[in-house]
Amino acid sequence: MVQYNNNITQILLDWFSSNARILPWRKNRSAYRVWVSEVILQQTQVVQGEQYFNRFVSRFPTVESLAIAGEHEVLKLWQGLGYYSRARNMHAAAKQVVECFDGKFPEEFKALKSLKGIGDYTAAAIASIVSAEPVAVVDGNVLRFISRLFGVEEAVDSAIGKKIVKNFAQSLLPKANPGTFNEAMMEFGALKCVPRNAQCDNCIFSDVCSAKRQNRVYDFPVRRHKTKVSEREMHFLVVETSKGIWFEKQTSRDFWKNMYLFPFVDSSNALLNGIIDKYNVDLKFEGELVKVCNVNHILTHRKVLATFWKIEGDLPEMHSNSILVKVTDLKSMEIPVPKLIDNFLRNYMPDMENC
Ligand code: ADE
Repeated sequence: MVQYNNNITQILLDWFSSNARILPWRKNRSAYRVWVSEVILQQTQVVQGEQYFNRFVSRFPTVESLAIAGEHEVLKLWQGLGYYSRARNMHAAAKQVVECFDGKFPEEFKALKSLKGIGDYTAAAIASIVSAEPVAVVDGNVLRFISRLFGVEEAVDSAIGKKIVKNFAQSLLPKANPGTFNEAMMEFGALKCVPRNAQCDNCIFSDVCSAKRQNRVYDFPVRRHKTKVSEREMHFLVVETSKGIWFEKQTSRDFWKNMYLFPFVDSSNALLNGIIDKYNVDLKFEGELVKVCNVNHILTHRKVLATFWKIEGDLPEMHSNSILVKVTDLKSMEIPVPKLIDNFLRNYMPDMENC
């Protein structure tokens, strides 16, 4: 087994040395830059991730610069990636690094895990890549690659299945370059051993891959549960006044916390009264309520059934978290809005095109 695994390790390292993509976070490596890239890559594919990474590190080149930034700005840079708690956690972790680690980003697995939002995956990636600590990284790509290679029949969404995959990955990890090997596994899963249309015919592992030998490539990884997606209706009221559009900051522990949305309620029944009660405003409108569009917006575990309603008129009184923003000022004011709202503004508010 050891010999067999050594071969797999070497074959994969050889493949990586000629197939590794040239990516911005693979240059000027530091724990901070690797951290930023790994968190972004948990949210998006490499191509889009590159743009986010470049923007993020050019605005926040150091952990200190991130720590002292306003949360608004951090969320704004994250806009479009979704899962905004990751960005808030990054901001909190940067402050922790400044306060508890004297501004020096930790490089050891254990210390990394003490930072907000850093779990096994991110800690293993940073520690192995930056300080050659021999800890295997297991992300979705590695789960797929390893479970096919070794024919793991346990469900990978169970603790035991995950552990089996982790042990296999750990058994392949070379002492000399664990970080390179971790990246090679992730890269191979991302480029070759892909979920559908895997490139098995010319695969470097086709003679040792258990799934391929059994002709059951798409049976792996085994999962117990399909990810449940819950649906949520949201009825947004778009109020455009002479002073700007009415936005509300999400303050509750709901998703999109601290982002700006149009005021909304969950049902279209008595929509106006619902908004008046929820936001405690005195709304007296002349015009009538018009439905602008319906949009189904998919989030990680949620489908938002959004309806946008429009009305014209002046707002006499505002709630303390309410703000009025002119469409043309949206960008310069650094108001973080989720993609759903951004798409609406771009499609239905023509002035936004130039922002
Ligand atoms: N996906 C997430 N992190 C990665 C990395 N460091 N290399 C390749 N693919 C990745």
